[in-house]
Amino acid sequence: MPRGIFVTATDTGIGKTIVSAGLALTLKARGMRVGVMKPVATGCFGDGPRLISVDAVYLFEAAENEYAPLTSPVRFRNPVAPNIASIYEQKEVNLDAIRNAFRELQKYYDFIVVEGIGGLLAPIKNNYLVANMIQEMKLPIVIVSHVQLGAINHTLLTVDSALIRGFIIKGIVFNRAPLVNYSLAEMTNPRVIHELTGIRVLGTLPEMEELNVESCRFGRLKEVFADRINVDAILN
Ligand SMILES: Nc1ncnc2c1ncn2[C@@H]1O[C@H](COP(=O)(O)OP(=O)(O)O)[C@@H](O)[C@H]1O
Ligand SMILES: [Mg+2]
Repeated sequence: MPRGIFVTATDTGIGKTIVSAGLALTLKARGMRVGVMKPVATGCFGDGPRLISVDAVYLFEAAENEYAPLTSPVRFRNPVAPNIASIYEQKEVNLDAIRNAFRELQKYYDFIVVEGIGGLLAPIKNNYLVANMIQEMKLPIVIVSHVQLGAINHTLLTVDSALIRGFIIKGIVFNRAPLVNYSLAEMTNPRVIHELTGIRVLGTLPEMEELNVESCRFGRLKEVFADRINVDAILN
């Protein structure tokens, strides 16, 4: 069985990259050999043959990995779901490249952090969703959610969808909780979601000003993640 975790979220832009990087930073600080992977990346930049994924770069830098092509084996320029980018860019989503990279990474690292694409049911290829990739990788999942109004519905839909597929949910990370002036929904949502699902809340990450994926800034992510997130529950 591969040792690792698949980080998914209730939507795109919720914090998969931040949580994946935070986990990689924390596990590395504990002395673990951590590999990172963004199996398919869209919205990449650069005009050379090797498109650059900001997510992959962020993860790669957090984990101080050495094999960039394994971290990011499939890249597209258009910021859309991979199956659509594939049509527009006339380039197949090479699932075998992903499978091989995942297998290779397991040779070099003890634990692999895989960042998903969009949410659980985002299409990677026709008839192949993110959920199908999780099934193939045989990894447990972490769900990243927001805390605002709407989080209950989004998170319960994701939990349901994971459970009917038999996935092991290690827990939920809530991201970007406001430090001040939080609403009643923001204050109560993590507890309500735990009560409605029975799924463990791994912790809540606050809004952090000095951190940014696009400019590859980590700020205090390592310290805050280690302090606020139940990493042992992800490992056990
Ligand atoms: N806790 C946070 N504090 C401040 N900015 C954040 C936080 N979490 C995410 N962001 C920012 O929000 C955007 C989306 O987060 P990201 O992790 O890239 O989401 P996803 O990977 O799910 O698409 C990024 O620009 C990131 O820098
Ligand atoms: Mg991301």
